[in-house]
Amino acid sequence: MGSELRIEQLKQMKYELTKLLLLYRCALDEIETKINILKQEFQALHDYSPIEHTKSRIKTPESILEKMIRKNLDLSFSTIKENIKDIAGLRITCSFIPDIYNVQEMLMKQNDLEVLEIKDYIESPKPNGYRSLHMLVNVPVFMSDSVEKVCVEIQIRTIAMDFWASLEHKIFYKYRQTVPEQLLKELKNAAESAHSLDLQMGDLHREIDEIKHMQGE
Ligand code: GTP
Ligand code: MG
Repeated sequence: MGSELRIEQLKQMKYELTKLLLLYRCALDEIETKINILKQEFQALHDYSPIEHTKSRIKTPESILEKMIRKNLDLSFSTIKENIKDIAGLRITCSFIPDIYNVQEMLMKQNDLEVLEIKDYIESPKPNGYRSLHMLVNVPVFMSDSVEKVCVEIQIRTIAMDFWASLEHKIFYKYRQTVPEQLLKELKNAAESAHSLDLQMGDLHREIDEIKHMQGE
């Protein structure tokens, strides 16, 4: 193959990768705007927001490549788009468990979003104790000459679930997937404690609400 042809191919690949990552960034921006609107509405009109904070991230090209190799997929841009559903990720942290389902419902009602999948790891926690609500949604991104459907992974969890998941992630990363048995047991216990705290805080919150209601606030 002539070197000029190879340079042309590389330029084309760079263009495709830039476009792909741009689309995911735009899709994330759209969802973040939606969440911000909900947050502002709640704060302004209800004096309470079910959304504590949000954090977004785009998978790095290295991490996309690593996942493609791990999943034994051929390296093409269409395969990436079809198979790697978590290139754009948004994590929403809520105070209480019912807030999670509220946010889920509010997003499901938005008819420009197409919900592809919901995994409820709160109702059915993972064996290690992981809890969160996962949604995969397609967002339309309007470009100059086309509309692209772009997939975003949304994780909704409480502060306690988030606290647990970030520690578990760090431990998993540190031990490179061979975590000592004892540590796994302690992590599972910690996940159950986090869940008890969530339930307890939820009860307290409801009690306080009832008192406020009785006082006519
Ligand atoms: P991949 O694992 O990303 O290929 O997708 P999947 O189909 O297994 O999706 P799943 O919904 O189970 O997990 C997607 C994401 O949720 C992960 O990339 C993590 O960010 C998070 N997650 C899932 N399980 C765990 C867990 O056990 N611990 C922690 N800390 N995070 C998890
Ligand atoms: Mg997984």
